[in-house]
Amino acid sequence: MMVDAGLQYVRIGEFAWSSYEPGRGRFTWEWLDRVVDILADAGLEIILGTPTATPPTWLAIERPEILGVGPDGRRRAYGSRRHTCPAPPYREESARIVELLVERYGSHQAITAWQVDNEPGNHDSARCWCDRCQEAFIAWLASRFDTIGELNEAWGTAFWSQTYPSFGAVRLPIPTMTAHNPALLLAHRRFASQRAVAALTEQYDIIRHGSPGRDITTNVYLGDLDVDAHALAALGGISSFDNYPHGKSGPMDTAFTLDLATGAAGRAWVMEQQPGPINWTPTNPPVPPNQVRVWAWQAALHGIERLLFFRWRAARHGQEQYHSGLLRHDGTPDRGFDEVHQLATELAGFSIRPDKSVALLYSYEDAWALEIDPHRAGLRHADLVLAAYTAARRLGFEVDVVAPNGRLSGYDLVVAPALHLVTAERIASIDSALRAGTTVVLGPRSLMKDAEDAWWPHPTPAHLTERLGSRVVESLSQTMDVTVGATPAGPWTDVLSEGGEVLARYGGGTYLDGAPAAVRNGPLVYFGASSEAAWLDLLAHLTGAAPHPAHLEVFSEQIIDHAALQVSDRR
Ligand code: GAL
Ligand code: ZN
Repeated sequence: MMVDAGLQYVRIGEFAWSSYEPGRGRFTWEWLDRVVDILADAGLEIILGTPTATPPTWLAIERPEILGVGPDGRRRAYGSRRHTCPAPPYREESARIVELLVERYGSHQAITAWQVDNEPGNHDSARCWCDRCQEAFIAWLASRFDTIGELNEAWGTAFWSQTYPSFGAVRLPIPTMTAHNPALLLAHRRFASQRAVAALTEQYDIIRHGSPGRDITTNVYLGDLDVDAHALAALGGISSFDNYPHGKSGPMDTAFTLDLATGAAGRAWVMEQQPGPINWTPTNPPVPPNQVRVWAWQAALHGIERLLFFRWRAARHGQEQYHSGLLRHDGTPDRGFDEVHQLATELAGFSIRPDKSVALLYSYEDAWALEIDPHRAGLRHADLVLAAYTAARRLGFEVDVVAPNGRLSGYDLVVAPALHLVTAERIASIDSALRAGTTVVLGPRSLMKDAEDAWWPHPTPAHLTERLGSRVVESLSQTMDVTVGATPAGPWTDVLSEGGEVLARYGGGTYLDGAPAAVRNGPLVYFGASSEAAWLDLLAHLTGAAPHPAHLEVFSEQIIDHAALQVSDRR
């Protein structure tokens, strides 16, 4: 049936540990051998998953130290998934099972790729509060700071008299009377993400050695922030991610995710594509006819190399029974199956690399810092970024979403909606873009804190105020009816000093009336507002582009004609 539907790739085994090792050292590989052979005989290519997102229950009972510990000090319970700790006990067990898998299947011809683990960091799983992780955190800090005095200085622990007498006194952020120092929280996030990546690297190395020539990737849910997906994509040179449009705020959010994936490593796969209604959003709405097809086309038009659907057949058991598959629970084709069949014909031989003249800078470190201290309840870094992204897309630009430390000089326009932390690398790449004549637009809160999340001690944007001829004088969580022109300014507004060329001023009848909202000096622009509409006005002004009347990213049937048109145009 898979071959009939036109599928080429099948991912298997990503949660199957207890099915092939039901007790320590007792193996029942035969069923998996059979699956591999059946798929191979049918001419399908296999992506074999390592099973480390779900340790078997016998292992959790035998070695409870493989289980993570929550901020409340309690061990995570087995009975679900991702309940592990990244310290050596679980790494040893992971290495053991991955070595066995690689030994048995690593040279099988049909296995052309590996998926390491599954969605690391999902369910808020990257941070562990066990004693081993506590010790490792201290060692990590001691490797970053020469003395505890240096750490105290960088984190400003004298505030509220929390100066640490020694490295050993630094505790993972456990519940306290009120807020923690944001520097500690940011350090914990960095540490946890690096540790997750380090644990996965061990699996990559085993696979590379024992199953040479295969693609290796780790799928992520690109809405999770726990593990830096740029670092993950770098491990195997492919970014793969799970595309559930119903888990997103709308089609632009999905588009953003697709561009984040392709921008991370150049090559991107959708490892799991929503095949119909799902089970884990608040309402899990119906999926109308052709919607699955539209989603797949959307991914294809963003330059996704491979697209797999999750899942093949709806599950009769377990936690995801209401998650649709291409087949129903009873094994008969569901609507997704028919659409995939059609897609297989439509997409045969199709490949596109959209030509991208606009870069949008996105970093996990900024997302962490801004979510740790958002200045406004519920304000998500992702929403600030999405506002600028959506504006650029509505003006018809293809947008490359990239990390802020790479080469930026090849783009016409670089948009940095929330480039928060100051690092030498970032300043250097902005500098070289500006020298090359690329327009660089910084959004509110940009270059405002140092790498340890302390407020910059000089006027901001750091290192750029002279070049801009202006500086930020107020950073506000905006609750007044402030506008830029006629447009609402958005939840965050930075107010600029007079200087440079003032492109826009605040209005709306508050004390901010007439204050600079956007300032330009040569190719450098600082924009203080944050709403999508304000970004649209600004980018339209800077580029001369007008909003596209029938934008591609809409939820409607007509999109299919539009997409088809676009395809033949591109060809
Ligand atoms: C993904 C996960 C899958 C499945 C799916 C349900 O996040 O990788 O195992 O749970 O969501 O939509
Ligand atoms: Zn731990």
